[in-house]
Amino acid sequence: ANPSLLILSGDGIGPEVMAEVKKVIAWLDAKRGITFDVSEDLVGGCAYDRHGTPLHDDTMAKAQAVDAVLLGAVGGPKYDSLDFSVKPERGLLRLRKEMDLYANLRPAQCFDALADFSSLKKEVVAGLDIMIVRELTSGVYFGEPRGIFTEGNERVGINTQRYTESEIARVARSAFELARRRGNKVCSMEKANVMESGILWRQVVQEVHDKEYPDVQLSHMYADAGAMQLTRNPKQFDVIVTDNLFGDLLSDLAAMLTGSLGMLPSASLGAPMENGRPKALYEPVHGSAPDIAGQGKANPIACILSFAMALRYSFDLGDEATRLEKAVEKVLADGVRTPDLMGPAGGTPVNTAQMGDAIVA
Ligand code: NAI
Ligand code: MG
Repeated sequence: ANPSLLILSGDGIGPEVMAEVKKVIAWLDAKRGITFDVSEDLVGGCAYDRHGTPLHDDTMAKAQAVDAVLLGAVGGPKYDSLDFSVKPERGLLRLRKEMDLYANLRPAQCFDALADFSSLKKEVVAGLDIMIVRELTSGVYFGEPRGIFTEGNERVGINTQRYTESEIARVARSAFELARRRGNKVCSMEKANVMESGILWRQVVQEVHDKEYPDVQLSHMYADAGAMQLTRNPKQFDVIVTDNLFGDLLSDLAAMLTGSLGMLPSASLGAPMENGRPKALYEPVHGSAPDIAGQGKANPIACILSFAMALRYSFDLGDEATRLEKAVEKVLADGVRTPDLMGPAGGTPVNTAQMGDAIVA
C-alpha cells in the first residue's frame, strides 16, 4: 500500500502554504516514483462553518487511520467570539489529545543565508541545528487540582505539576531515538533543585538511558541554566528533552535564535503504530496570519519543512527529506525572499506560489 497522508489545511494562510506542499508531493510522485495516498478534510474555523464543530468525528477517525497528518493553521478574527468549546484551536487540541501525541519536536536550525535574522550574533548561530523535545500531554497545564479557589478572605489560583514515571519514560525514549538519528547527544532539562517532579524526571531519564540507550551521551541541566546556555552557546546542544512548561518557553526561545516564524516546522509524535512508526501530526509553528491571508505574502517554508519532517519520521524517506531541506537552503542562498524574509540585504521578492515553485525547481 502507498503511504497515507491526511491534509488538514485549515484557515487563513493554511491553504495557501499547503498548496506549495502539494507541489512537492506531486514532484515526488512524478520524478521519484513516490506516491502518497492523500486525503483532505477540514479543521478549525472552516470545519465549524460546515459542521458546527472544529473537528468532525469522521475527520478524527481518518486522522487515527493514516500514517501521518499534515496541518496548516487554524483560527481567525471571524471565530474569536465563538464559544470556547467550538473555537478553531479546539480542533487541534482534540487531534493532539485523542492521538495521544506526547512528544512535540521543535527543531531550531539556522540557514546561513538567514543568519542576520537571528537575535544573536551571526557566529553564535551559524550552522546551528538543535531539536527540542517538549512533553506535550501532561505536566502543569493538565495536573489536578487546578482552579481558582477561595482561601480565607482571598482567591488562590492553583495548577499542579504532575508527572508519572511512564509519562517521563516515553518522552525520554522519543528523545533518545531521535538523538541516535542525529548527533547522539541528549540534554535533559528540569528543576530538580527545587521541584519533586524535577527529581523524578532526572531519575527516570537517567534510568531509561542506562537500561535502553547507554550508547547515547546524556547530560542534565537545570532549565534556567539551559535558557542561559541556549543564548550563550546554543551549538553545544543536539537534542534537548524537557517538560511541557519549560519546553513551551525554551522552544520559543530557541525559535528566535533562527529568525522568522515563517520558517519554523514542528512535529508531534505519539506511541508507535503497527508499522513501528509513531502516530504523528506535522504542522508549521505559525498560525493563520489573518493580517496577510489572501495576499500571496505567506512564506510556505515552515509548512514545507514540516512535510520534510514527515518524510523523515513517518515515511522513512530521510534522503528525500534531506533533498527537500537542501532545496530550501539553496533557494534561500540564491536570495529568493517572501516579504517576511526580506532583510536589509535585499533579495529577489517573490510571492507564496513563486517560493514553492523555486523550491520544487
Ligand atoms: P500568527 O502566527 O498567525 O501570526 C503572527 C505574525 O507572523 C503575523 O504578523 C503574521 O503575518 C506573521 N506570519 C505568520 N506566519 C507567517 C508566514 N508563514 N509567512 C509570513 N508571515 C507569517 O499568530 P497570531 O497573529 O497570534 O494569530 C493569528 C490566528 O492564528 C489566531 O486566530 C490564532 O488563534 C491562530 N493561531 C493558530 C495556530 C495554529 O494553528 N497552530 C498557532 C498560533 C496562532
Ligand atoms: Mg508557546
